[in-house]
Amino acid sequence: MKDVTKMERIGPHSHIHGLGLDANLEPRGNSQGMIGQGKARKAAGVILKMVQEGRIAGRAILIAGPPSTGKTAIAMGMAQTLGSDVPFVNLVGSEVFSLEMSKTEALTQAFRRAIGVRIKEETELIEGEVVEIQVDRSVTGATKTGRLTLKTTDMETVYDLGSKMIDQLQKEKVLAGDVISIDKTSGRISKLGRSFGRAKDYDAMGADTRFVACPDGELQTRKEVVHTVSLHEIDVINSRTQGFLALFAGDTGEIKPELRDQINEKVAEWREEGKAEIVPGVLFIDEVHMLDIECFSFLNRALESEMAPLVVMASNRGITRIRGTKYKSPHGIPGDLLDRMLIISTSKYSEDEIKEIVKIRGDEEDVKLGPDSLELLATMGGQTSLRYALNLIAPSQQIAIRRKNTQVEVDDIRLAYKYFLDVDRSASYARETSGMMFGEEEDVVTVTTAQNGSMAMDTSA
Ligand SMILES: Nc1ncnc2c1ncn2[C@@H]1O[C@H](COP(=O)(O)OP(=O)(O)O)[C@@H](O)[C@H]1O
Ligand SMILES: [Mg+2]
Repeated sequence: MKDVTKMERIGPHSHIHGLGLDANLEPRGNSQGMIGQGKARKAAGVILKMVQEGRIAGRAILIAGPPSTGKTAIAMGMAQTLGSDVPFVNLVGSEVFSLEMSKTEALTQAFRRAIGVRIKEETELIEGEVVEIQVDRSVTGATKTGRLTLKTTDMETVYDLGSKMIDQLQKEKVLAGDVISIDKTSGRISKLGRSFGRAKDYDAMGADTRFVACPDGELQTRKEVVHTVSLHEIDVINSRTQGFLALFAGDTGEIKPELRDQINEKVAEWREEGKAEIVPGVLFIDEVHMLDIECFSFLNRALESEMAPLVVMASNRGITRIRGTKYKSPHGIPGDLLDRMLIISTSKYSEDEIKEIVKIRGDEEDVKLGPDSLELLATMGGQTSLRYALNLIAPSQQIAIRRKNTQVEVDDIRLAYKYFLDVDRSASYARETSGMMFGEEEDVVTVTTAQNGSMAMDTSA
């Protein structure tokens, strides 16, 4: 069949191992291949290369295809491959309407989350081996002062200590013979290890004690540290009403446009001075047809601004109404936005591919599937959807356990199939009982056509 060894799998969203793409991103962890969807994955690989080379900011990609064809999986794989330094922000279209802020504010925040600022800072450090720590307590014990003697192989200096430094030294359990580093601006102390020279002073040393050489040269050194934060984080930290604690609460509220302007200016200054670099990340908007016309015009404008991330969108709709208008368009996206997008399409998996994916998923969930069971699940997946077949694995196993089967048999799957409806059966049930359940005609139509695989994916339509 296929050469699975060269590819890599995009698994369930909780544990994806990267993307086996031609842009050649090393597999992490597991060497199983991602099945099928070769063209779409290669396309995603090309995009990733461009992201990594910083040539993609302000572009938009659309991943279009029927439900359950791995669109979300591909986007998540992209995130994995980019690594932790490149921001990746994940948004579902409908979320924009559910947050306690205007839609454009929600989108602005998502945009700014997806733009990283790599900040370079020079810090002055004092690094040396502790010769002696002396602490003098006042009579009442309320104030502490002291002296710290540090040395390198070339020099020795005595530093005066305030009570905060003394507390830190005690907290870090710093002793004579330790090699430490003190950040001069923050006053933070870190223990680097024990000096080789003092190794034999202690016979009861923990197994994890790290030995390091006594530093040479000057006690004071300069080091460049680089850290990446998002524009949104800078906004929040500088917003007087919010403060950085809001970052942890996740509740950042609306941010004033004037503040954003100031931050933009500041960042521009840093860039000019060589102190900061912009790292355009990726904003992924799943189910993008849920956005309305206002959101789309916002996106259009935002993509043109000087600092913009790569925007990847996914949709399973064919020709559908653009929300907030009475017009229809491919994927429910207005023509002017569609026009600037690169479109990647995914197509339905073949039964062989589905079988392969079901097998991997079964292995991963530690479910034993006999050959007949595998065959049946693949057939079902072909007739309904891949996701439905995957969703049946766990309940089938539950049923098998109840019947004391050691592996999932065809009958277990049949029962699971009876208990849990796929979309088509659910839709016909909904039609039969219509009047008893809420419905919006247009949606039912879209779901059924998509399931038949007859969805119009041709954007020239
Ligand atoms: N090529 C693949 N290999 C392994 N699992 C896959 C593959 N494509 C999709 N899946 C799995 O199938 C399910 C549906 O994929 P998903 O990306 O959610 O589809 P979509 O977003 O197109 O509706 C997910 O559970 C996903 O992990
Ligand atoms: Mg999806």
